[in-house]
Amino acid sequence: MNIRNDFPILKNNPDLIYLDSTATSQKPSHVIDGVKDYLESWYANIHRGSYDLSDTSEKLYERSKQVVANAIGSDNWREVIYTMNSTYALNLLTQSIWRTGLLKKGDKVLVSMVEHHANIVPWLILKEDYGIEVEYINILDDYSIDYEDFRSKLDDNVKIVSLTHVSNTTGQIFDLENANSLLNMRYGNDRPLFIVDASQSVPHFKIDVKSLWCDALFFTGHKIFADSGIWVLWWKEDFLKSLRPAFSWGGAIWHVSQWEFTHAAQLPDRFEPGTPNLSGAVSLLRAFEYIGSIWGYKKLEEIEADLTEYALAKFQNIDWVKLIGGIDAQKRVWVFTFSVEWIHSFDISDYMADNDICIRAWQHCAEPFLSSLDLVHTCRMSLHIYNTAEDIDRFFEVLEKAINELK
Ligand SMILES: Cc1ncc(COP(=O)(O)O)c(C=O)c1O
Repeated sequence: MNIRNDFPILKNNPDLIYLDSTATSQKPSHVIDGVKDYLESWYANIHRGSYDLSDTSEKLYERSKQVVANAIGSDNWREVIYTMNSTYALNLLTQSIWRTGLLKKGDKVLVSMVEHHANIVPWLILKEDYGIEVEYINILDDYSIDYEDFRSKLDDNVKIVSLTHVSNTTGQIFDLENANSLLNMRYGNDRPLFIVDASQSVPHFKIDVKSLWCDALFFTGHKIFADSGIWVLWWKEDFLKSLRPAFSWGGAIWHVSQWEFTHAAQLPDRFEPGTPNLSGAVSLLRAFEYIGSIWGYKKLEEIEADLTEYALAKFQNIDWVKLIGGIDAQKRVWVFTFSVEWIHSFDISDYMADNDICIRAWQHCAEPFLSSLDLVHTCRMSLHIYNTAEDIDRFFEVLEKAINELK
């Protein structure tokens, strides 16, 4: 089985070495053909049509949610909400929480230092507009969460804990079971809401919302082989039922009079105003089917373990390069952020681009974390199942050349 052959972009650009999958993954033919087939044969708006096309389109939309629910361990596809992007998804979540009165002035939201801006800025908006507090949990030298610091910050004002599962910068996998135990020990049944950013875990390994004990979880389709513009918000049904949606129109509305409206009773419709991203939903369905077709997450994890070990060994053997991430392959994914002290990250990424190698430069939407390390400019190379040991060799060969020429 040659997985690279499943990705037409690699065939169409034979010299290209794509090492930017943490930003977005490439798409397999199964997804591309699946979306084409949908647009050519089944496309119609859902919910309001009684004709066959609309019916089939709606069935595919629901099937997509069933597959997603199943992939993340939820028994109820109605807990799955699709939105168009992280900005919308996170603001829908935070603003709905605020509208429902689950936070008030002075209440605290705990996040980690290494969060993606997507899990910081929407909380800072609530801080700016309504006076909630946002506090940061420290990260230890081995890039894991500082659980002592976490424990010390769990006071009566903490109403929400929102943590990433895997860092998009260090690649570290956080031990969320430990976080969950600390919450249980400190609060018992009266726990703060526990929210998980799974944007970098769902593309790497099988997750289970039940064993994470979270109230809400979110991730994006485009990092897991689906199209861009389709984001997943999973909310536990009880939590979802209690929330007042922050935005409303279209299918999210039941009745509208001149002066009033009522939200749709059904979940998840009340949280999905307007026409959803129908082809995006189909692409997500096909993306999870594709993972199943290559023997599921097991295969993905096997390839990841081998290439991660391989790349880590190389990072440890190259002079002048500082890896911003742990060296235990069991506790991390294949995202490698690094800096070369006296060379600007854009110079390195430009040099790589001139050699047909795609990497990323700057702060990877984790500015508070990198600033805490006195770093602003770093590079990031990241892998996926279509990469090979030869890609990694070539990357290091060019990196060495870049260091010699640019220093
Ligand atoms: C951990 C994490 N959260 C959120 C996001 C935001 O995703 P998007 O780029 O789709 O807005 C990313 C994207 O890199 C991420 O890595």
